[in-house]
Amino acid sequence: MIRINLLRLSFPSSPSNFFAFSSQIPVLPLINRSRSRLMAKCAYTTAFEPPGKKLLFRQLFEKESSTYTYLLADVTHPDKPALLIDPVDKTVERDLSLVRELGLKLIYAMNTHVHADHVTGSGIIKTQVPDVKSIISKASNSKADILIEAGDKIYFGDLFLEARATPGHTLGCVTYVTGDGLDQPRPRMAFTGDALLIRGCGRTDFQGGSSSQLYKSVHSQIFTLPKDTLIYPAHDYKGFTVSTVGEEVLYNSRLTKDEETFESIMENLNLPYPKMIDMALPVNLTCGLQELTAKPVEAASN
Ligand SMILES: [Fe+2]
Repeated sequence: MIRINLLRLSFPSSPSNFFAFSSQIPVLPLINRSRSRLMAKCAYTTAFEPPGKKLLFRQLFEKESSTYTYLLADVTHPDKPALLIDPVDKTVERDLSLVRELGLKLIYAMNTHVHADHVTGSGIIKTQVPDVKSIISKASNSKADILIEAGDKIYFGDLFLEARATPGHTLGCVTYVTGDGLDQPRPRMAFTGDALLIRGCGRTDFQGGSSSQLYKSVHSQIFTLPKDTLIYPAHDYKGFTVSTVGEEVLYNSRLTKDEETFESIMENLNLPYPKMIDMALPVNLTCGLQELTAKPVEAASN
């Protein structure tokens, strides 16, 4: 198991600014304009940034595979350490350009699972930013710099992601959840890969998939998170960008059913053979390093 201190870049900050911020509320004069300003600040802060505005967050999109890549950074840490979740080979240049423009230090390229529909950008990123470490689950039977297990915490500055095992779409799927603590982002954010999509879920007929396992994973590891936890999936095909645990518990068209009905739905999807799987899987089992050449972006896109 990866221990906290192995992944940790710095010591946690002392008690968050949350208390300092909260303590201002009762003493503010009850003037409508001031209250409006305060409420606006509260809404902005609680929706997207933790106390102290530590977290920088960007949701990025790759249109051919409808994949979301997520950039997270602790911008209050002197190094501004950052990580990318589920980068895609075709959009690595865009992602690294953004990292540079924002003055971040990319330290991790992470995958939620071994993707079958696109080539991960992790390998290309490692050739262009040599200090970056690739991360994937040990259960994926994939190669990476760091192999994580359930419960591991991945620190970037004073912030961290917790790994939760959510197999079922593939054997090695994990969900990365932002930390639980007063100095961590509120509401929490769950990067669910293909285990839980907005109003749907990933298929379970390849890569060691199991509908029974997926049902248990989502209900025990994701639906048990606070209802306001933001759900950020690896894909969306309808234009949705974010959901919440509360919404999916109520409206997910598959996972709101009982387990038997869910398994029947998954067994009768009659989906075509994934068109990229034969090319993408071997490359992704080495976190994208296998196909690299002098021009990695073009080579890996073929
Ligand atoms: Fe997938």
